[in-house]
Amino acid sequence: MLTKPEGAILDLDIAVPRHYVTHENLAIARGVEPEKYHAGLGCWEMSVCGPGEDVVTLAAGAAWRLLQRHPHLREKIGLCVVGTESGVDGAKPTAIYVHQLVNLPSTCRVFEIKHACYGATAALQMAQAWACMRPDRYALVIAADVARYKRYSSGEPTQGAGAVAMLVGQAQDQPVCLTLSDVSGTHAEEVYDFWRPNYQAAALVKGKFSVECYLKSLLAAHDDFYRQMGKSASLDAMDYALYHVPFPHMARKAHVHLLSHKGIVQEEEALADYQRRVKLSLWANRRVGNIYSASLYLALAGLWEREADTWSKKQVSLFSYGSGSCSEYFTACGGTRRPAFHLKTLLDQRVEVDVATYEALSDHALLMEQNDSIHSETIRGMVPFVFVGIRDHERTYEQQTVAEKEPVTVVAAPAGMGIHRELAPLAALGSSFCDR
Ligand code: COA
Repeated sequence: MLTKPEGAILDLDIAVPRHYVTHENLAIARGVEPEKYHAGLGCWEMSVCGPGEDVVTLAAGAAWRLLQRHPHLREKIGLCVVGTESGVDGAKPTAIYVHQLVNLPSTCRVFEIKHACYGATAALQMAQAWACMRPDRYALVIAADVARYKRYSSGEPTQGAGAVAMLVGQAQDQPVCLTLSDVSGTHAEEVYDFWRPNYQAAALVKGKFSVECYLKSLLAAHDDFYRQMGKSASLDAMDYALYHVPFPHMARKAHVHLLSHKGIVQEEEALADYQRRVKLSLWANRRVGNIYSASLYLALAGLWEREADTWSKKQVSLFSYGSGSCSEYFTACGGTRRPAFHLKTLLDQRVEVDVATYEALSDHALLMEQNDSIHSETIRGMVPFVFVGIRDHERTYEQQTVAEKEPVTVVAAPAGMGIHRELAPLAALGSSFCDR
């Protein structure tokens, strides 16, 4: 009897910008109690893109790190999709820059998907179906975003930047990270909860309304999933529940809301369940911030790294929400591959900056988007590619040596921007996951 092919995330890797600012410092600078960001939102550190870093360098950086481990598969990649809402061009897709930078075959299908924080999930679902029809080909799905809200707005502490690259193929005969279910529940509805008009660099958001839209979509997509699966399937069978994480406490809200929908209304019981099945996945999100379409997959990476010893056969549910809106609820099963990306070390190696430097770095990054000029100064970073500027309306990227463990970076800035300042020393390498 022929067995039905199953699609899987075979392996994944992550890229983050070189700098971060702490929420403690951000709160003090904004006149807010740090506890609001820590206890109220669950945020501790926020990744900040500086000059030379953009969605392309992050996406290509994550893909490069992943392919370093699988050089023999590069020639077999037939699909490269980037899910992002931070595209750098109205027509040219982020994915074609990645295709060139990581040297993918010319026989590859290449494109970008945009739907707020949902784009990468649409890409993953499509890649899974594509891979199931092609036993000897692989897909590269990259979730990458730079989350920008207006300075001093309530969205500001929920910014972040990063990328997660996933290698997708058939599960048979090889170790995988996650085998994906071929059933998923979906919910779509036109709403204005979060959007970014073409004339704006920063997103607009109706914060409280976006939380309501997220929770409503969660129940609708969840119910659609279990309607298709029949009564035998149940949330109780899940060892872990992963959620889209615009800020870590959103995942807690989501889980408690879902449990209440399933009849668990005692707060104590719901919070104990959250501690057991959700909280373990949030440590990296607390340290990176919102990375829109990559947030759910960062939570997956964090959970996989943390639970690597007992990962095989674990049942995982995933909920993806994209404002605007579309959402999807699906399940997956842990495989026997062990993670090889050391996310915690990657985060520990970033450089902390103060609030004034965070502002200067992001201003300079935006300035590079608006000027038709090349910045020839060396920018060292944690990803192997650097955006050096725009000439004749064409973006230029260069490869660089990955300078991990360097304590200080010197950022080239136009005169008078006040960006040259002493940066904080390399954060001490901690030994535990961030469970605050
Ligand atoms: N100590 C502890 N907790 C505190 C606190 C303090 N001193 N001050 C406030 N809080 C808590 C609040 O009670 C609230 O918790 P709750 O949601 O469980 O009630 C939380 O901190 C946030 O406070 P709130 O007043 O709601 O914050 P805000 O008005 O600044 O907005 C967001 C929060 C999330 C709406 C805002 O950051 C935002 O718009 N983010 C971008 C959009 C987004 O991420 N949407 C999510 C769905 S996609």
